[in-house]
Amino acid sequence: MFPSISKFLTAAAALSTTAYAVPQGWSDSSGSWQGGQGGQGSGSNSVSTTPTTTSAALNYASASSSSATGFSTASSAAKAVSSGTACNNSPDLCSRTYDNVTHMGAHDSSFLRDSSTDDSIAGTQFLNATYALNSGLRLLQVQVHDLNGAIEMCHTTCELLDAGTLQSWLSIIKEWMDNNPNEVVTLLIVNSDDFKASDFGTVFKASGIDTYGYTPSGSAGNSTTWPTLSDMISANTRLVTFIASIDADSSYPYLLPEFSYVFETAYEVTSLSGFNCTLDRPSGYASSAAAISAGMLPLMNHFAYSVVLSYEIPDVTNIDTTNSPDTTTAGNLGLHAKTCNSDWGQSPTFVLVDFFNKGPAIDTADNLNGITATGRSDSGSTSSSTSTSTSGSVQTRNLGLASGALVAALAGAVLLI
Ligand SMILES: *[C@@H]1O[C@H](CO)[C@@H](O)[C@H](O)[C@H]1NC(C)=O
Ligand SMILES: *[C@@H]1O[C@H](CO)[C@@H](O)[C@H](O)[C@H]1NC(C)=O
Ligand SMILES: *[C@@H]1O[C@H](CO)[C@@H](O)[C@H](O)[C@H]1NC(C)=O
Ligand SMILES: *[C@@H]1O[C@H](CO)[C@@H](O)[C@H](O)[C@H]1NC(C)=O
Repeated sequence: MFPSISKFLTAAAALSTTAYAVPQGWSDSSGSWQGGQGGQGSGSNSVSTTPTTTSAALNYASASSSSATGFSTASSAAKAVSSGTACNNSPDLCSRTYDNVTHMGAHDSSFLRDSSTDDSIAGTQFLNATYALNSGLRLLQVQVHDLNGAIEMCHTTCELLDAGTLQSWLSIIKEWMDNNPNEVVTLLIVNSDDFKASDFGTVFKASGIDTYGYTPSGSAGNSTTWPTLSDMISANTRLVTFIASIDADSSYPYLLPEFSYVFETAYEVTSLSGFNCTLDRPSGYASSAAAISAGMLPLMNHFAYSVVLSYEIPDVTNIDTTNSPDTTTAGNLGLHAKTCNSDWGQSPTFVLVDFFNKGPAIDTADNLNGITATGRSDSGSTSSSTSTSTSGSVQTRNLGLASGALVAALAGAVLLI
């Protein structure tokens, strides 16, 4: 089932007497509360260097009750979203506020288990982020590390799995957004080596994707009033970017400190009965209910690890159960979402899954959003139980599972967010 696992275990056994260091950064954002002024740095965000949208931009066909509250940085000629046009794959979502949509997301979206990585067991997805977007996912999570000063997408360490630079990946996402003008996309970046907002800002600008960056108008953080998808599409500020562990920087007001806006359920689940709806991060709220009533957006982590000789690796064996929209069996994505909806009195705003094409996971978001989707170019569903994708155009470097560096990297509950 795992072509590389025996190599991995052999290497692990060979080095079992070595003392390993837990790689720095794997638990980077655990519990660090970005409160205080963290979410308020964009208080001056109404200063815009480009003309704001004209009133015509607001003339979309919807009966939104809470529109036109959320954008101040329209970048280019804004166009109305006309009646019947789909927003995020359904006309029904145009008038919904951003926070009232369930955005299905690919956890560690750039770490592939496919031919480009020799089916690395550190891979969390069979298909890359372009396929995820084509399949209807609208949230892409990535983890970045410092590789000689570059912001590099690496899983736990760059020796283990290096998926290339953030900038080249952002350029591909930007191109997809250029070609899909009615889609609102969210990025969630785990900032493992504590880059600053300005470091990210430089890379966002170089990729060109910064022009789509959405900046909350008025209050930031938990008191933000989110606009409708239509508002965001009309203003062409269709990219929401959350970064764990950054301080807000008014020069890059579209880079939002994750834990000023979002709370998460547990991300280290090793049994299919281990999913729950309890707040795990940030630590500043007493409970999920408290976070929700404070205006925080719920993110439901729904991916499992297998424990193999005390190593945690993404669990692909049970993936058909894990990603199923069913609400019948412990571990089902549908059941977890239903449970959280009942606990919270609302659906999760964000969901993260591994191997998104299994299930397919997007079915659960469609169910929660109450839509029948249109305009997806990939079905989101593949029948093969192994990797089927071609390698991504972002160069992926895999140094091999048998290396001592890999085993050292794996020691100590790793391969996490
Ligand atoms: C919103 O977040 C701030 C920190 O950014 C916190 O001080 C405040 O208590 C939160 N609001 C509520 C209602 O919890
Ligand atoms: C929620 O799930 C996580 C991961 O399985 C676990 O560590 C935590 O104890 C659970 N919380 C509750 C209240 O059951
Ligand atoms: C959106 O609002 C409806 C109606 O209140 C609610 O049932 C649903 O759970 C909400 N979805 C999200 C993601 O907030
Ligand atoms: C995904 O793979 C396709 C096919 O190789 C490629 O065209 C696309 O650019 C890749 N996307 C990303 C984000 O790497």
